[in-house]
Amino acid sequence: MNETLQQTSPFLRACRGLTTDYTPIWLMRQAGRYMPEYRAIRAQHSMLEVIGTPELAAEVTLQPINAFGLDAAIIFSDILPPLIGMGFHLEFAKGEGPVIYNPITSPADVAVLRTPSAAENMGATLAAIRLVTAELTPRNIPLIGFAGAPFTLASYAVEGGGSKTYSKTKALMYTAPEAWDQLMRKLVIVQAEYLRQQVVAGATALQLFDSWAGLALGVQDYVRYVQPYNTMLFAELADLGVPVINFSGGTAVYFPEVVACGGDVIGIDWRLPLDVAWEMAGIDKPAQGNLDPVALLTEWPTLRERVDDVLVRAAKVRAAGGAPHIFNLGHGILPNTPVDNVRRLVEYVHEATAR
Ligand code: CP3
Repeated sequence: MNETLQQTSPFLRACRGLTTDYTPIWLMRQAGRYMPEYRAIRAQHSMLEVIGTPELAAEVTLQPINAFGLDAAIIFSDILPPLIGMGFHLEFAKGEGPVIYNPITSPADVAVLRTPSAAENMGATLAAIRLVTAELTPRNIPLIGFAGAPFTLASYAVEGGGSKTYSKTKALMYTAPEAWDQLMRKLVIVQAEYLRQQVVAGATALQLFDSWAGLALGVQDYVRYVQPYNTMLFAELADLGVPVINFSGGTAVYFPEVVACGGDVIGIDWRLPLDVAWEMAGIDKPAQGNLDPVALLTEWPTLRERVDDVLVRAAKVRAAGGAPHIFNLGHGILPNTPVDNVRRLVEYVHEATAR
């Protein structure tokens, strides 16, 4: 990894537990529909076209970096495209979100899934990473690569899209545990290699998104059907020399089990106060989060109060000997977020934490 970037980027320093001049900030889904520049590109190109064209993906990745003083970029893609090369027919349907037209309906469907290399499957995203890092490394801004965790991807592969109950996914894990194991292992193989290749291409940090694990499962199912695979995946990434962020949503009731899977930085969603979740995770680990994205839809005094609450809780943990805090949302930014609130948030976090 680039030595200067490692020494000087506040985000990368915080990920490694080192001091910074201010609290670094980036926002999950920071490139997206709340930005007019993004909507202009999407008016001309489908979601998969943007992801599949390195120049467009690079441009969209840089839009929030050029608009706000963010401390890290995240490569523009989605968690679902790696499923395409495994054999799934994926589309981002207008107004509906992602759809998979040939979801898994039997163990035989799992047996035929391929485990293609990232070069074959995700070459455009790897090329976009090379373009973005060529631009950002001289500007001292790191790039985060990412992937979906096996459970969250499996849930799309089995449900065929989003779900409220995850009933098909849970039916597969309960009634065909061997097929479930095979599916999760294939996802670990594909995602581990994809994340590794993102680092080879220039990503200087990684984030694993297990967005739906906490909303779908109880603790016993999490421990039995999810935890072993996330643990395998984090172990595969341990020798890469870049920090790995472990983010999951809705997992407050089994947060220690989530943290035990691995990762260098723990992502905290918006459901528990930052310090409460951080103490459950162990305050010796850097934490990332956890402003409720809905706060960004309010007027500045309300937003500021919410931001201050996160910062005060982070300062309290730090004063008690805790690791550094990376400011972020507790989940992805919402499409109807006012751009001015994002600008103000980034400036405010930097000013309020300058030391
Ligand atoms: O953070 C970033 O800016 C990088 C890009 C990014 C996107 N999706 C772009 C996107 C990342 C990191 C993701 C992750 C992702 N995608 C997750 C995990 C994070 C989370 O929010 O929980 C999940 C569950 C998905 C799956 C997904 N992609 C859904 C459910 C949807 C539809 C809902 C929605 O937000 O539109 C998407 C589409 C998507 N992914 C968009 C963007 C910018 C919107 C596409 C568009 O209409 O332009």
